[in-house]
Amino acid sequence: MKTRVLSGIRPTGMLHLGNYFGAVKGMIQLQDDPDRETLYMVADLHAITTPYDPRVLRADTRSVVMSYLAAGLNPEKSTLFVQSDLAEYHAQLSFYFSSVTSVARMQHLPTYKDKIRQHPDNVTMALLNYPLLMAADILVYKAGLVPVGLDQEPHIEVAREIARKMNAVYGLNFPEPERFATSGEYVPSLSGEGKMSKSVVGSYISVLDDLPTIQKSLARAPTDSGTGVSEDMPVSVKNLLQLVELFQGSQRRQEYEVLYTSSGIRYGDLKKELAQAIYTELEPIQQKYRELEKSSEYVEQVIAQGAGKARQITQQTIDETKQAMGFG
Ligand code: TYM
Repeated sequence: MKTRVLSGIRPTGMLHLGNYFGAVKGMIQLQDDPDRETLYMVADLHAITTPYDPRVLRADTRSVVMSYLAAGLNPEKSTLFVQSDLAEYHAQLSFYFSSVTSVARMQHLPTYKDKIRQHPDNVTMALLNYPLLMAADILVYKAGLVPVGLDQEPHIEVAREIARKMNAVYGLNFPEPERFATSGEYVPSLSGEGKMSKSVVGSYISVLDDLPTIQKSLARAPTDSGTGVSEDMPVSVKNLLQLVELFQGSQRRQEYEVLYTSSGIRYGDLKKELAQAIYTELEPIQQKYRELEKSSEYVEQVIAQGAGKARQITQQTIDETKQAMGFG
């Protein structure tokens, strides 16, 4: 039997390079593996765990679907769907999972702590339940592999714990999912601190940015004098070199590392070259995205077809779980 793969992205604005490298590239890689069955969703139910505007959510959801398609996800190979179209299954399973999960376990997750720091007025039950819903997203499809960035590892760990508990307590057969890592599992912020993130202005490059915008964002990235001993290289410079590696290859990075300890790196040139390399990778995605903007009917058709295919799997998991838990 094929291993099932499930992943998702929250519709909170345009995708950035972190989403692209950490998640989408892995999703594409697995879609082309004949031993996998791939299901990729837009995690719109997760979007309401932080403050949001209902008037833009629907458009943002379509935008993620279009980004998936533009980046190379193929509805003939992958089931592409919107999480809220299957809300009754995902939310239902997450409620069942809440009965085997302690409040303290959820409160101690680093992602929860980050979010309550960012939004101290929005410490909601939805936020606390975020990892349970994510576990349900994965396990309702009995997926064994999840292409996501490094920041999501604690959530995958929760999904494994829940699978083990549900299996032990109710005799179910949930798999213990593993994360599928890409070479860009941790794309650093341009600001020199932490990871690239939609919630930190100046930290990211969006997949729809044009060349001048990419150049401007890179220009703001902090650097140093350009020479020094490698052990003392500032994090901000290491981050730039990591982007060089992702977009221009490890050899180019090594060349810069040699320059750093000899004649020096000229950051103006590095940033110009890097901006061009990033844009060269993004340009075909942007072109396809613009075409899709003109084919809203096609996008709706992909979403409807995806929901239909996803539903064929979810009902069975819910039936088994209810039966085992004494319902019905
Ligand atoms: P979200 O929208 O926050 O992130 C989407 C994906 O992008 C990855 N990512 C990164 N990867 C590398 N470097 C970065 N700087 C970076 N920033 C973001 C994230 O790891 C993620 O893979 N909880 C998920 C959404 C979700 C989900 C699921 C994923 C909901 N249910 C079920 C998989 C399976 C999330 O954080 O999305």
